[in-house]
Amino acid sequence: MRLVTLIPGDGIGPEITESVKEILSSARAPIEFEEAQAGETALKTEGDLLPLKTLQSLEKNKIGLKGPITTPIGKGFRSINVSLRQKFNLYACVRPYKSMLGINSRYENVDIVVVRENTEDLYKGVEFEANSEEARVISKLSNGSVSLDSAISIKAITARASEKIGRYAFEYAKKHGRKKVTASAKANIMKFTDGLFYDSLRKVAKEYPEIEYHEVLVDALCMKLVQNPEHFDVLVMSNLYGDLLSDLVAGLVGGLGVAPGANIGDNMAIFEATHGSAPDIAGKDLANPLGLLLSANMMLEYLGEKQIASNITKAIETVLADGKFVTKDLNPEGVTTSQMTKAIIKAL
Ligand code: NAI
Repeated sequence: MRLVTLIPGDGIGPEITESVKEILSSARAPIEFEEAQAGETALKTEGDLLPLKTLQSLEKNKIGLKGPITTPIGKGFRSINVSLRQKFNLYACVRPYKSMLGINSRYENVDIVVVRENTEDLYKGVEFEANSEEARVISKLSNGSVSLDSAISIKAITARASEKIGRYAFEYAKKHGRKKVTASAKANIMKFTDGLFYDSLRKVAKEYPEIEYHEVLVDALCMKLVQNPEHFDVLVMSNLYGDLLSDLVAGLVGGLGVAPGANIGDNMAIFEATHGSAPDIAGKDLANPLGLLLSANMMLEYLGEKQIASNITKAIETVLADGKFVTKDLNPEGVTTSQMTKAIIKAL
């Protein structure tokens, strides 16, 4: 049995977590969950958005499954998701997006994996208010081309992190029998930062001659993805572009409700649904559990439980293809979270 830290999260988090626990148990996944809190629920019950106990559980188990977390409104709160990624150096955000029969979308044959660098770029949180001491220094350094009334954010890109995410993308491609890695940035404008990202990727690409390597400017990539998503395989990007493009590609396969995700480091990983806590439907037994379930499936594969993951995938495909026992976001005539859960268990 493998012990996994389970963070149900906020809003619909507890409902979809319950569903996933039932399905994993019926699939005989050799997993035991240790529950821990984070987010609004943790703030209410333990007085902290990200309690020490939760961090210690993750540190000990080295693997976590996380539901969505409500970001409290107001200044002074750091995103829990960003904090976890940076604290445990979960440098790779991996999101596989595949068209599935029974999920409405404009395309039928999308099979794209977005690999996003998770620890640096504009997400470092190094920002300066307009007129602050730092903004003044930067204004001076730019010979006044950055005016004093500018707020400033630092985009930090390192060769080390760029090579690391590049190697992750190529290794992923190799391991999963994928043929092509496309790096994307805006190196024609951000010649140093995005230029360094491309340079680092080119260096790594030379180590994998069996895998095609391409570069597409990020604006062009948006257009090409919408026109011909089937031309793309593995995409690799720095943090911000990866964040934006992940949602774009999710839209090509039917939206965030059905998109799994993982944040992976050298010896630790947290798997998470990519949608939010959906406060509008929380507590109503309406939430689609597939985002978290597909993330749990990625976790099973990561743990080497390929057969169990494949059984769950087949059960999901059966239920989706039938189309009746799915939640209302997929079919307005559909059923509740609990009924969809039962249908998946029956198909198992
Ligand atoms: P959201 O993803 O929670 O909801 C957007 C729309 O999608 C809503 O209509 C919702 O009902 C629907 N939806 C989302 N997940 C669904 C599911 N599993 N089944 C059926 N319908 C689903 O995004 P929103 O409203 O922008 O954010 C709500 C809260 O979630 C905010 O506090 C936000 O910061 C947080 N959030 C957390 C994330 C995370 O923890 N990974 C990611 C995105 C947002």
